[in-house]
Amino acid sequence: MEHRPYAYTSEEEFLGDLAKLTKGLPYSGDTSVLNTPVVAGGKEIKNRLLAQPIEGGDSLENGAPSERARERYGELAEGGSGTIWMESISVNEEGKSMPKQMWLKEDTVSGFADLVKDIHAKGHPFVVAQLTHSGRNSNPDGKRLAVCAYENPLLPKENMRIITDEELEVLREDYIKAAVLAETAGFDAVDIRACHGYLLNELFSAFERPGGYGGSYENRTRLLKDIVKGVREKTKLVVGVRMNVMEGLPYPYGWGCDRENAKIQDLREPIQLAKDLENEGVSIINVSAGIGACTPYMIRPYDRGNIPEEHPLEGVERLLQSAKAIKEAVPGVCVVASGFTWLREYAPRVAAGGIKEGWFDLAGFGRQWIADPGYANEILAKKPFSKVCTTCGACMAFLKDGKPMRCARR
Ligand SMILES: Cc1cc2nc3c(=O)[nH]c(=O)nc-3n(C[C@H](O)[C@H](O)[C@H](O)COP(=O)(O)O)c2cc1C
Repeated sequence: MEHRPYAYTSEEEFLGDLAKLTKGLPYSGDTSVLNTPVVAGGKEIKNRLLAQPIEGGDSLENGAPSERARERYGELAEGGSGTIWMESISVNEEGKSMPKQMWLKEDTVSGFADLVKDIHAKGHPFVVAQLTHSGRNSNPDGKRLAVCAYENPLLPKENMRIITDEELEVLREDYIKAAVLAETAGFDAVDIRACHGYLLNELFSAFERPGGYGGSYENRTRLLKDIVKGVREKTKLVVGVRMNVMEGLPYPYGWGCDRENAKIQDLREPIQLAKDLENEGVSIINVSAGIGACTPYMIRPYDRGNIPEEHPLEGVERLLQSAKAIKEAVPGVCVVASGFTWLREYAPRVAAGGIKEGWFDLAGFGRQWIADPGYANEILAKKPFSKVCTTCGACMAFLKDGKPMRCARR
């Protein structure tokens, strides 16, 4: 289908477009299932609505959460999400995406502990710390410092260098240390972020990188698995991974893509990785796709800005069908589906349909919670959203300009 901005005036019209999709989306008029608990890594999560990680760009100078961040998360916790998958938190200085990205280290851990205590007190959500090295997107001092897995002519090149195998081994320890601190801070789980082109994810497509972290599937996925292993040895935390399953870049630059035609998905390696991660003790996989610099429509289907050829519903279909494929491969893992915001008022019914049919366990909402932190309580009460995200992209534009993230309409 050709790209078309959201303009549904009736459920009939919406269902008409769903019927045109290649594989389709689930749908249920009865959304009660969203208010049922689920268990992940032995811990009960109170409902099926998950607030996805959204970087705030508002930490204190040392990387500790600011008062503004506490207000953002306080509001979100009161808004009823069963899970708050917190924004990306850097594991070291070099890997920060911007000067005001959160950074978990000895002198900020008490600030994180206060934040998590606050969030738990305001509605008892399951709280996940998303640990990250921004890799190619690193910008620790307000000046790009791209730390890359390999050279990629399709992505911006200025101020880039290739990270060495020895540095990757040090980085593994940085992740493990940050996970130990996340446990001290009281988080319920850690996510070893491997999505959206950030460093661990970029290694997945390091087909031509020499050495121990490039070439074979085993080498390309080694660092993530070694980190998971270390975190499992050193902590009792539930371990999750936010994982890309497709990037839409031609071979040898994209992961999860057909080698002849990058627009076609090839899930064989992502499925193998999900199985390997389950064997390493990962209990939650949050499924995503796309790289911000070149295939942002795969991450977050939208209506305005750099418009792709595909209809936003096809982007949603890709994300949800991918979650389904991962769930089928690892039924014992709690699977999170991404990309519900573009669906506006129909999102709860698609989410409920997916959970009822066993496609995924948790429905992740990103931009909708920026516009309306109370989205979960509203869905559970079967009320319309008090404010609907229009996918205008302003929240992301603020971050790109180095400003704190916010909804332009709030
Ligand atoms: C402003 C902004 C910041 C984001 N920050 C993160 C992040 O820190 N970590 C992450 O994994 N995804 C991040 N994302 C992606 C979202 O978590 C989510 O996958 C995406 O918005 C699609 O979900 P939605 O359609 O419900 O918005 C961000 C997205 C936006 C718009």
